[in-house]
Amino acid sequence: MKTKADRIANMPDYPFARWGERVRAARAAEVDVIRLDIGNPDLPPPDPVIEALCTCARDPGSHGYPGYRGLPALREAIAAYYARRFGVELDPTTEVVPLLGSKEGIVNTALAILDPGDLVLVPDPGYPSYTMGAIMAGARVHKFPLLPDRGFLPDLDAIPAEVARAATMMWLNYPNNPTAGTADLEFFERAVAFARRHDILLCHDVPYCEVTYDGYTPPSLMQVPGAKDVVVEFNSLSKTYNMAGWRVGMAVGNPEVLGSLFRIKSNVDSGLFLPVQEAAIRALAVPREWIEKRNRIYQARMEIALDGLSALGWDVPASKATLYLWTQVPEGWDSEGFATMLLNDAGVSVAPGSFFGKSGEGYIRISLTAPNFRIEEAMERLHTLLE
Ligand SMILES: Cc1ncc(COP(=O)(O)O)c(C=O)c1O
Repeated sequence: MKTKADRIANMPDYPFARWGERVRAARAAEVDVIRLDIGNPDLPPPDPVIEALCTCARDPGSHGYPGYRGLPALREAIAAYYARRFGVELDPTTEVVPLLGSKEGIVNTALAILDPGDLVLVPDPGYPSYTMGAIMAGARVHKFPLLPDRGFLPDLDAIPAEVARAATMMWLNYPNNPTAGTADLEFFERAVAFARRHDILLCHDVPYCEVTYDGYTPPSLMQVPGAKDVVVEFNSLSKTYNMAGWRVGMAVGNPEVLGSLFRIKSNVDSGLFLPVQEAAIRALAVPREWIEKRNRIYQARMEIALDGLSALGWDVPASKATLYLWTQVPEGWDSEGFATMLLNDAGVSVAPGSFFGKSGEGYIRISLTAPNFRIEEAMERLHTLLE
């Protein structure tokens, strides 16, 4: 009996699934693990969002198939958010597709656009699903490095001309996971010009655009004039409203690409549970003060972590956005070896940078998804272990 397609043979397990097993094993051995590895918000969504979910769930009419395209009111709420937040006008009918979380849309867009042998440009380090979607589609991947001396922005001119010419699709993600790098509109303009010049679909992933510090306001790639010709942007309620488990995301931008994505989706999933859609509509209307207050909680955690790391003699830059600190491991260690040692010997779980690609080797990612006292304790444990 065949149990594996060829495409599976080329696909590693999702690295965080593997790491989660290690955390479970440490916990089974009675280690009190402080999880600073995945970007899983530990705080609840806004109260009215939960109320909207419950109210809709009590309605007997809410439990059938919800329709494939998403409620018009949800698509309108997404378009209104883009207009309010970025000054970008979207047609809610043709330029917005609600997603079951952005991860689903990232992979399904690869399946919708790529043919076997097509070439995809992917940032290294980067969120693993950009590569996995390409592998599922039988496409080839060219990784371009994100390096600290360029603020983790790619050097577009360093992408070989023949690679750029051959590419079908390119991924960018700012504010960036895992490096916390940020991009300004001027860089996005150059990226759109690059995509136009080489006839590439530019996919931008912005789940961290509302997780920001010190008044930083990230732009959307959709703000570049004419972006809709070549860009699809993926956004998510997971980090913006602490709704990671609810699975709500959105793809916006080029209507032809979104049409192809919709054709895949309508054959694969049957839409978002209606109460989740009603809750998402409510979330998108939550006043910005809620987001700002939540971000101040993360910022306080970041300051505790930075103080603790600085006491270890580590010079870690403060992040302007995202849930993460990105820092080099000490000399003589590789990422996974160092992270495994921290897990086993200190009960502190951080993400090995190598999980995000070759250029992530030599780094760890520390997630700010635990309360102050746990981050303090994690820092104390690191101090005891490493001093
Ligand atoms: C860069 C990036 N893109 C996409 C996602 C997936 O988010 P969602 O929960 O919307 O699927 C994540 C989640 O951590 C992420 O870090």
